[in-house]
Amino acid sequence: MSESFWRLYFVVLVDGEPVGMQDLVGADFTRFGVVSSFSWLVPGRRGDGIGKEMRSAVLHLALAGLDAREAESDAFADNHASNKVSRTLGYEPNGTTWDTLRGELAPIQRWRLTRDAWEQGRRDDIELVGVEECRPALGLG
Ligand SMILES: CC(C)(COP(=O)(O)OP(=O)(O)OC[C@H]1O[C@@H](n2cnc3c(N)ncnc32)[C@H](O)[C@@H]1OP(=O)(O)O)[C@@H](O)C(=O)NCCC(=O)NCCS
Repeated sequence: MSESFWRLYFVVLVDGEPVGMQDLVGADFTRFGVVSSFSWLVPGRRGDGIGKEMRSAVLHLALAGLDAREAESDAFADNHASNKVSRTLGYEPNGTTWDTLRGELAPIQRWRLTRDAWEQGRRDDIELVGVEECRPALGLG
């Protein structure tokens, strides 16, 4: 981790039980104000709405806590759960690119959430704790 590239890893707890992880990445964040994210839930806890909650939480951190301008995300085009989380939370499709999956070329769907779109669905029930103390380590004043 450095001021020009940081990746914050959060453990997702439900009633104290770890069920997955959600990260938040800033690459040249002080220049661009853009974050990206990646999430993973244990198979038995997927499809219950936790994915939307954990993404909402890091978006709140990024846009309310760290003053990000935009958030990006991407997923294999056939990853319906991940793509639906992005669409539901207000991201817009932002083109496609390619990656490989088990050795085969596979399309990636890219997404972009603007601050305006995030404001429209802004949550008032997410509490941020300890953000001010972290800002210097992320290169933020
Ligand atoms: C991606 C992931 C974090 C999403 O979390 P989740 O808890 O399963 O998703 P949610 O229950 O919050 O569902 C979000 C939306 O996707 C829809 N959805 C969930 N699973 C789906 C599926 N298998 N097929 C189609 N739609 C699905 C839900 O109906 C919901 O739609 P809504 O917004 O209209 O209500 C989780 O499925 C996961 O860990 N998958 C494996 C790892 C992975 O693919 N990570 C992302 C890599 S980019």
